[in-house]
Amino acid sequence: MLVAYASKTGNVARFVERLPVQRCRIWTGEERIDAPCVLVTYTTGFGQVPAEVERFVTHNRGHIRGVAASGNRNWGANFARSADVLTGRYGLPLLLKFELAGSDKDAERFLQALQQMDRRAPRLA
Ligand SMILES: Cc1cc2nc3c(=O)[nH]c(=O)nc-3n(C[C@H](O)[C@H](O)[C@H](O)COP(=O)(O)O)c2cc1C
Repeated sequence: MLVAYASKTGNVARFVERLPVQRCRIWTGEERIDAPCVLVTYTTGFGQVPAEVERFVTHNRGHIRGVAASGNRNWGANFARSADVLTGRYGLPLLLKFELAGSDKDAERFLQALQQMDRRAPRLA
């Protein structure tokens, strides 16, 4: 499964780019994909979804199968809340919330979630 990710200060990029996955970076949100993907985003403002990610979702909603988000626990109840906003709004599965660039355990959990999604995804003949 393709991983589409947005990163402002590099944490999400470090998390995703060490994984053995196909990936596509969201820069402006104007990117278009044509395959199922999961979204990995950072959290901004006070628990908000970054604007470029909002744009990306608008253009590619039909392909998005799940969401993971990075944040910082210093933000308390707003920790990685961008994931809650997106999963709540679109009824998508929450795959993972992780701090900063994530730990090895986070990477393992995320890969397991991806594998489960791949198993569930309908196969094209
Ligand atoms: C202006 C600003 C607002 C932030 N707001 C939140 C927040 O509401 N919740 C949270 O968990 N993290 C928040 N963060 C922390 C980032 O989401 C976190 O550092 C993340 O790992 C950044 O990912 P990136 O390096 O890929 O951009 C904020 C960071 C900045 C700079």
